[in-house]
Amino acid sequence: MRTPLIAGNWKMYTTPSTATVWMRALLEDLTSQDVSHVELVLNVPATHLAVLAPITAGTPVALGGQDVSAHDEGAYTGEVSAAMLANAGARYCVVGHSERRQYHAEDDALVGAKVAACLAGGLIPILCVGEVESEREAGEHEATVIRQLTGALEGIDLKDSGDLVVAYEPVWAIGTGKTATADDAQAMGAVARSFLKGRYGPLADAVRILYGGSMKPSNAAELLAKADVDGGLIGGASLKRDQYLAIAAAAPR
Ligand code: PGA
Repeated sequence: MRTPLIAGNWKMYTTPSTATVWMRALLEDLTSQDVSHVELVLNVPATHLAVLAPITAGTPVALGGQDVSAHDEGAYTGEVSAAMLANAGARYCVVGHSERRQYHAEDDALVGAKVAACLAGGLIPILCVGEVESEREAGEHEATVIRQLTGALEGIDLKDSGDLVVAYEPVWAIGTGKTATADDAQAMGAVARSFLKGRYGPLADAVRILYGGSMKPSNAAELLAKADVDGGLIGGASLKRDQYLAIAAAAPR
């Protein structure tokens, strides 16, 4: 069985100081709440990693970044490399989030270069794919996701199923309160899995495919019960400790 991955995406919220208080409180909560059946990861702003890493070291909580440079190093003012994120304490990194695609014009080729940069720099990419509302209305959601996966994974060889996480996030569900039905999330998870099988063979059976888009305690159990929903990428609700933990508790044991 694939261990559910409960991944928070804090976006551009919190500061290193408020995040420190939050993280200490989460670790305190974990002393009385058993969510050892899931893997916990919080994808935080890059500024927080080196501050949070000593606090989470040796605990069940892993850290991740939210974006990464496609370059290893060099004169790229403002960019942060995979090696920098890894050295600062990240194990994962969100790549190709729809907010990056929309506001920073990231296309599939750039997203693919970032996936490669993660793998080369010691990070596990959480590759985000998903259709916008007009694509769903036009019945193009499957084709969109397959196009995004094809572009982002071109030339990427997987050595281990644990080296990649895919997050299906319908853009119309992100931060809107609208959630895909559990059946739709499952259907798209299966589309992603079948693409990965064609690309990577049996290795794909163990790759985790997350659902993201307004996941919250009230809908998590139904979504996470689906065969090809191996966890969640959770924005708003991951900033609230009780909600984040309630989602983790809702994952199948
Ligand atoms: P949301 O965000 O849970 O607030 O909809 C999800 C995401 O951006 O990954």
